[in-house]
Amino acid sequence: MLEVKGLHAFYGESHVLHDLNLTVPAGGRVALIGRNGAGKSTLLKSLMGAGPTIQGDIRWEGRSLGTIAPYARARLGIAFVPEDRRILGNLTVFENLKIARNHALSRPMATPEETLEQFPLLGPLKDRLGGVLSGGQQQLLALARAAISNPRLLLLDEPTEGLAPVIVEGMVDDVQRICGSGCALLLCEQSLWFSRRCTDCVHVIDSGRLVFSGAWKEFDAAKGIRERHIGI
Ligand SMILES: Nc1ncnc2c1ncn2[C@@H]1O[C@H](COP(=O)(O)OP(=O)(O)OP(=O)(O)O)[C@@H](O)[C@H]1O
Ligand SMILES: [Mg+2]
Repeated sequence: MLEVKGLHAFYGESHVLHDLNLTVPAGGRVALIGRNGAGKSTLLKSLMGAGPTIQGDIRWEGRSLGTIAPYARARLGIAFVPEDRRILGNLTVFENLKIARNHALSRPMATPEETLEQFPLLGPLKDRLGGVLSGGQQQLLALARAAISNPRLLLLDEPTEGLAPVIVEGMVDDVQRICGSGCALLLCEQSLWFSRRCTDCVHVIDSGRLVFSGAWKEFDAAKGIRERHIGI
């Protein structure tokens, strides 16, 4: 379980997140939606300890993440797919997957071969350099790279941005398969369609503050939230 309590995040003097409280239960699937600049990526980077300065408490499986380094958070089972994907352009698809295997983990990992079977669109590209892949192919590779270590919490930052609808539809199945093995999900998105299919409940963020939290049914009933805080 991930518990975020009273989280504030700063870039230098700039105060970006204000008193955020949210929980992702073990195996639970939660969406965070909000328009550009609302603070979605800042939250995920704060959870990874990668960028913003923070105040407040972030607990993962009962343990305060405090000053734990990003690589150590990954070893604790938290996998992060950043919005810019960070594929290594000079390595092949296969090599990108191979180096993502974290040998410090005690739990079982998949092999690159097994992972390529799970992502059939990547299979034929296995010897292609990461740098020449399309945006959609890079996003699939970023997801496969996160999945290879069998994470217990997947942090996805706008995975559907700029992707063709057919790739987005396939990605719903990929995310559901990864989470089907008990992995929890915190999905930052602007696509309501994708978020609904991948998660059970939703938080809405606007200007660094949560303005709604609830099940999708409650979101649908909360008139005005969509127009006021999302604009999509
Ligand atoms: N490295 C940084 N230094 C200073 N300010 C930043 C930095 N990164 C983001 N910000 C600011 O923090 C605020 C939140 O940005 P963030 O990237 O978290 O939003 P977002 O919801 O992920 O937006 P998008 O949907 O465009 O990715 C914005 O006002 C942004 O300009
Ligand atoms: Mg972002």
